[in-house]
Amino acid sequence: MSAAQQAAVTADGPPIPLHLAIIMDGNGRWAAARGLPRALGHKAGAEAVKRTVEAAGELGIPWLTLFAFSSENWRRPPDEVRDLTGLLRHYLRHEVQTLVERGARLRIIGDRHAFGAETAAEILRAEDLTAGNTRINVNVALSYGGRAEIAEAARAIARRVAEGTLSPDAIDETTVARHMQTAGIPDPDLLIRTSGEQRISNFLLWQCAYAELVFQDVLWPDFTAEHLAAAVAEFGRRERRYGARVG
Ligand code: FPP
Repeated sequence: MSAAQQAAVTADGPPIPLHLAIIMDGNGRWAAARGLPRALGHKAGAEAVKRTVEAAGELGIPWLTLFAFSSENWRRPPDEVRDLTGLLRHYLRHEVQTLVERGARLRIIGDRHAFGAETAAEILRAEDLTAGNTRINVNVALSYGGRAEIAEAARAIARRVAEGTLSPDAIDETTVARHMQTAGIPDPDLLIRTSGEQRISNFLLWQCAYAELVFQDVLWPDFTAEHLAAAVAEFGRRERRYGARVG
């Protein structure tokens, strides 16, 4: 059985996702609608992240992966890149204790080194400080791109073949999954994107093969526990077949 097929865990009712992935979209539009600088939209988005970690923990969702900074986001205007990376550093420095209090284990996927040695060290420190937490696993994707991740896995597998430690004929889906940054993490079974856009945008391309997609009209800074509950309820109503016919 694949990770996707183990998907739902059942509390005392409808299934809830084992792994929820979120594309947090709409910070800029939220700020523009209020005549505020985009930086304040991202700041409000960071508050929504805190609410969501808490709400997901309350629902008993064990894995949460958030798309906070894509490999394409480096192409935004330098001021905005500075605001976003500054906000991420602030949260790494000052909010790790909140994660510890909430029993959250933090892992970063993506290219942490793109943010410089100091930030990479702070990421490691935050991961270490939360490593013993078991209530909820929070993965944050930073300088992350799904295609880049697949290409990196392909390079790692090719190196093993070149060394002679892996036969090309032995390469299967499990081999690839083990070389992804999400090795050991179940595939997302629910992917939410906020702000009304209906795209995957290079997020967890390999891992979301069987994810249920829920697109919500809310702008990310306005995302609440109620929006999360509505998406999880929608997930509970979906019939999941993994390509097979049922009945
Ligand atoms: C999309 O809104 C959001 C982002 C590019 C960044 C997400 C970052 C945060 C929520 C804040 C920091 C996160 C953490 C983990 C502390 P957009 O700017 O693309 O909005 P728009 O499409 O309305 O312009």
